[in-house]
Amino acid sequence: MSETVLLVGGGGREHAIARALTESGPASGANGTSSDSQSDGNAALYACAGNRNPGIAALAEGFETLDTENATAVVSYAEDVGATLAVVGPEGPLAAGVADALDDAGIYAFGPNEAEARIETDKAYQRRFMRENDVPGCPDFETFDDVEAACEYIDEYDGDLAVKPAGLTGGKGVRVIGDQVTKAEAKEYLRDSDYDRVVLEERLVGEEFTVQAFVANGDLRVTPAVQDHKRAYEGDEGPNTGGMGSYSDSGLELPFMTEDDYREALDVLEATVDALSGYKGVLYGQFMLTADGVKVVEFNARFGDPEAMNTLPVLNTDFLDVLVAAREGDDLPELSFAPKATVCKYAVPEGYPTDPKAGAKVEISEENAGDALLFYASVDERDDGIYTTTSRAFAVVGVADTITAAEEIAEEALSVAGEEGLDVRHDIGKPDLVQRRIDHVAALRGE
Ligand code: AMP
Ligand code: GLY
Repeated sequence: MSETVLLVGGGGREHAIARALTESGPASGANGTSSDSQSDGNAALYACAGNRNPGIAALAEGFETLDTENATAVVSYAEDVGATLAVVGPEGPLAAGVADALDDAGIYAFGPNEAEARIETDKAYQRRFMRENDVPGCPDFETFDDVEAACEYIDEYDGDLAVKPAGLTGGKGVRVIGDQVTKAEAKEYLRDSDYDRVVLEERLVGEEFTVQAFVANGDLRVTPAVQDHKRAYEGDEGPNTGGMGSYSDSGLELPFMTEDDYREALDVLEATVDALSGYKGVLYGQFMLTADGVKVVEFNARFGDPEAMNTLPVLNTDFLDVLVAAREGDDLPELSFAPKATVCKYAVPEGYPTDPKAGAKVEISEENAGDALLFYASVDERDDGIYTTTSRAFAVVGVADTITAAEEIAEEALSVAGEEGLDVRHDIGKPDLVQRRIDHVAALRGE
C-alpha cells in the first residue's frame, strides 16, 4: 500500500524527518549495511508548520502554513491530502492534543496523545511518575504550586538545586544554582516570572547525553547516544538555548561512556515504556552521567532538535517501515544504523538567544554545502533568497568514520555559510571538547 504521510512542524528536526521519509537508505556519506526494507522507504509527503521551511517544502508534495497547535486545522489539512499516517515533530502540538485529534479522525499519529506527552510537558508530573513507577535514575525533588514556598525551600536547602518551571519553556526555563545562578538570583528569577508551578530538584553534576527511542505497541527501539550543547556560547558559557549542536559516535555510546552507562539509560527508558503502556512516538531521555551512575534530567515526547539530525541520517532501517508497523500494531522492526559518527552545528542569528538580530541572508544551500547535510530551521524565504529570523536558522551535519572527520565536514560547510549575521559554536565536536568530556567523567569516577 502506498502511504501518504503528514509531517507536522517546520524545524531542523522536521527537515531531518522529511528527508528520512523521502530518501531511501542512509544519507550520502553514511554508507552502511543495506536494509531489508518492507517498503521502498518512500512516502508521499505533505507537511504543515507555522513557518515555511524551504527544505521540507522542496521534499513535500504540499506544504501548508498553519498554526500547528490548532488541532482542527491540522486534521483538516490531513484529511484534504488523504494522509494515512502523521508524524508530529514538536512538543507544542503534542501538548495541544494534535495526536489525539488525528487518531480520532482515523489518521494514525506517530506521537503520544496529550495525556502521555505530559512526561515532557509537565515536569512535576514527570518526576512524580518516575517516583510512583520506580523508574530508576530519579533525582530527589519537590514540587510547588506557589513561588514563595519554593523560595523558602531554596533558602532552607543545604546544597545546590535545579529550578524548573513545570511547563514548557522551549528548553530555556531551567536555572541551576551553583552553576548559572546564586540562590538569590534563582529566587529573583522565580519571583519575576509568571510561573505558578515549579519543581526543585537536586543539582546533578556530570556529563549529559540523550538517548532517543522509537516506541509503539509496547516495543522500544533505541538509537545511538547523542550529546547536545545547550549553552549559547563556546566553552559551555552563556544562557541555555534549545540546543546549539550535537555529536554522536559510530556506535551506541559516546566516547565518555561505557556500555554499562548506555544499558542504564536503556533500563530507564524500558521502565518508562512499561509504565506508559499506550505510548507511541519517540521517547527521548536526557541523562546525566554522574559519579553515582545515570540520572534522568528530563524526558521529551519527541525527537530532539538537534539530536534528530544526528540520528536519522545514519538510520538504515526505513522510517516508513517503523511507522507502518506502529500503526498496524505489529512488532517494530529492529533498527540498523550506519557505523558512522555525526557532528551537527546550528547557525543561529547573531545575539541569539537574548537579543537575536534577524534578517541576515543565508548563503549556504544544499548545492554548495559540500559533503555536509544541510537542514533548515527557522528561516524566512523571500523572492531573492533565504533570510534568518530570531530563532535557530539552519544546521550543518557531517557524517564520517570519526567524530573528528565529521566535525571537519561540518566546518567546511560553515565556511561556505560565512559569519555574516550568524553565531555558531565552533567548539562542538572538536577533539579538545570531546577530550574534556572524557576527562570530566574520568575525574568523577576517580580514575
Ligand atoms: P531541561 O529543560 O529539564 O532539559 O533542563 C535544561 C538543562 O538544565 C539540562 O539540559 C541541564 O543542563 C540542566 N538541568 C536540568 N535539570 C538539572 C539538574 N537536576 N541538575 C543539573 N542540571 C540540570
Ligand atoms: N535538544 C534538546 C531538545 O530537543 O529538547
